[in-house]
Amino acid sequence: MNVRDDNVSEETKKLISSLPTYKDSLVKLCKYQGCWYYYNTLQAVINFQNNFQPQDTDIILASFPKSGTTWLKALSVALLERSKHDDPLNHPLLSGNPHGIVPFFEIDMYLKSPTPDLTKFSSSSSSSSRLFSTHMPLHTVKQGLKDSPCKVVYLCRNAKDALISRCGVGFYGPIWDHALSYWRGSLENPESVLFMRYEELKRVPCPQLKRLAEFLGCPFTKEEEESGLVEKIIELCSFDNLSGLEVNRTGKTLTNVDHDSFFRKGEVGGWKNYLTPEMENKIDMIIDEELKGSGLTF
Ligand code: A3P
Repeated sequence: MNVRDDNVSEETKKLISSLPTYKDSLVKLCKYQGCWYYYNTLQAVINFQNNFQPQDTDIILASFPKSGTTWLKALSVALLERSKHDDPLNHPLLSGNPHGIVPFFEIDMYLKSPTPDLTKFSSSSSSSSRLFSTHMPLHTVKQGLKDSPCKVVYLCRNAKDALISRCGVGFYGPIWDHALSYWRGSLENPESVLFMRYEELKRVPCPQLKRLAEFLGCPFTKEEEESGLVEKIIELCSFDNLSGLEVNRTGKTLTNVDHDSFFRKGEVGGWKNYLTPEMENKIDMIIDEELKGSGLTF
């Protein structure tokens, strides 16, 4: 039984009683600001919204679960820390799982306490920017960021691949509303919100990494490009490299998730091996309808 309603305050319980809820033998979920959460995750979301103190240089990595979050975290750490790790054997990604290096607001930091000691979460310690991550939709994140000009990077993945990768109850959904919040945010404010795609990162990793570096304000210099640094970072963060590291084959996150569960196949279009044409059509129809007129497809 995994109901996840520990650490929920009386005030939040009262809020939950006014929200849409879903319950089965395994989970209890509620829908807050258009997104489904476990009860204790909602408490963490509210803790974050009320208490997070943003710094202007903070960077937030956002995604729907199973969209390549681990990969985006690794690439961002490698980018921001690149000048500090000349020794290829002494890189934080070789000794730490990306989720241990870049904590989630609502899964790690604010889950147990409304006012956590942020120094306990080892986000990008030696870079001048703090790196955080989240699965919350943009409008919910923004409430915690107040009016800070933090940069937000969203990694979007084909909904059917994310669905198959996940293989479980759809908390944080609906996926189309999630992606739409960031899509619209990126159109309204392209300096603050970067919309990236898993498929593009797979197809043309170097230009996409350079795009990310420019957005984060740390573009590659000519010398760095000539020295092959872009390719080296892509290789360091590749599925094969990360999934083969001892630190990612063993161990667990703060919330007890096996590190190796973040690495399955890392492919595009793998859903074709699992969904029938009927299932495919049904999902496509729903998504097309939900995204109609937005300019977003996935
Ligand atoms: P699959 O289950 O399709 O293989 P998240 O990090 O958001 O939980 O997403 C997990 C998905 O990203 C899994 O997809 C996983 O294999 C894939 N993934 C993890 N690391 C990756 C990497 N370095 N490159 C490409 N895909 C990666």
